[in-house]
Amino acid sequence: MKNFKKAAFVLAVLLLLAGCKKVPSKAATKAGVNFGAAITIGDALNQEQIKLITENFNTVVAENNMKWENIHPKKTFYNFGDMDTIADMAVSNGMKVRGHTFIWYQQNAPYVSSIKSDDELKAHLEEHITKVMEHYKGKIYEYDVANEIFEEDGSFRKSFWYNRFGEEIYEFAFEVAHKADPDAILILNDYNNENAGDAKSDAQYKFVKKMVEKGVPINGIGLQLHLQENLPFSKDAIRKNVQRYGELGLKVSFTEVDVRVKTPATPEAVKHQQEIFCDLLDIALTEPNVDTFVFWGVSDAHTWVPGTFPGYGDPLPIDKDNKPKEAMKAMVKMF
Ligand code: XIL
Repeated sequence: MKNFKKAAFVLAVLLLLAGCKKVPSKAATKAGVNFGAAITIGDALNQEQIKLITENFNTVVAENNMKWENIHPKKTFYNFGDMDTIADMAVSNGMKVRGHTFIWYQQNAPYVSSIKSDDELKAHLEEHITKVMEHYKGKIYEYDVANEIFEEDGSFRKSFWYNRFGEEIYEFAFEVAHKADPDAILILNDYNNENAGDAKSDAQYKFVKKMVEKGVPINGIGLQLHLQENLPFSKDAIRKNVQRYGELGLKVSFTEVDVRVKTPATPEAVKHQQEIFCDLLDIALTEPNVDTFVFWGVSDAHTWVPGTFPGYGDPLPIDKDNKPKEAMKAMVKMF
């Protein structure tokens, strides 16, 4: 009897371990990675999608619901409903939530640019950040405080915010965000900013370094990593970039990972896509200042890619039928 009990116990432990290994979200959590996906309000209301998301990921971000036009469509009206549904679904399933995004040149509510007084606009930005962050205090661990503020040549993007206030507005936004939720991780996010040595990446690094030296409460940067399979990819240049932020004491989050392929995808392209995902995950697992790795979508069944890059698609490690690609299995092994 005693032996039987012992054998049953060992079997239970083995099954548990095997189970942990097989469930991607659990394996990621064990490895200390916030492994996530951008989701829609439809996802958060659909039991099948919730199952797919919770099995594969331990972190979510709203693909659109926290953007200004959605969460604050009228000057005196905050529309927290959909974001609450997403955040509550995530938290009740033990997942983490990222916040995306405050200062951006796109998807602002139309009324914002009609505020003519600079003082009033700045105060309104402060109100927006404060209200949203206080609302989600304790639920959202990390925010993209500012998004896509550089042009490809490294100059500041001539966005509505920059044209009104200059670069000072970004520092202001980080100060305000830190005051609203001192525990939140505050990120400056962008695309095409992953390779050390590129004009845009280097300009971002210089600006962030200056912020750190001035004592602005920034905790890290976001690499969106919207990549294309048939373009050059340099693991070394990305690692170098990640490391130089580490030397400043900053985090680097992988915030919107997808690797689009020309459609219909060839087996070679899918294989190469897998290598890129695994190279990125290797950086995340080996560089101590990376702990967030979020895909821009749950599966190839819904992604922004075909609408934005005609002729391209299938950018995620879960396919159109919501089945894991070899890439997903390989990443789980790496955990
Ligand atoms: C995209 C969404 O995926 C689309 O649904 C929306 O129509 C436009 O925005 N960089 C970002 C994201 O920071 O917010 C963008 O998301 C993709 C590029």
